[in-house]
Amino acid sequence: MTTVRIHWPNGRHGEHVVGSDWLTAARDAGVTIPTGCMGGSCGACEIEVNGTTVRACISTVPSSRRGELKVEFATDPFW
Ligand code: FES
Repeated sequence: MTTVRIHWPNGRHGEHVVGSDWLTAARDAGVTIPTGCMGGSCGACEIEVNGTTVRACISTVPSSRRGELKVEFATDPFW
């Protein structure tokens, strides 16, 4: 089981299993990713992972050569 260290926008960080889904990983870290369609089309769930925008509802936690991922909200979640 491979894990990767994730730094979350709320300042928390933790080890998460590569391949687990983003929404569950975020919830475990106390981070709420906004969602809408849950099908990959609306973009409400977009986060930035090491600067790359991903749609959390259709993506899983990737492996990282550095063993670390930095997550930021792609858009202001309070718009
Ligand atoms: S919830 Fe709509 S793209 Fe993810």
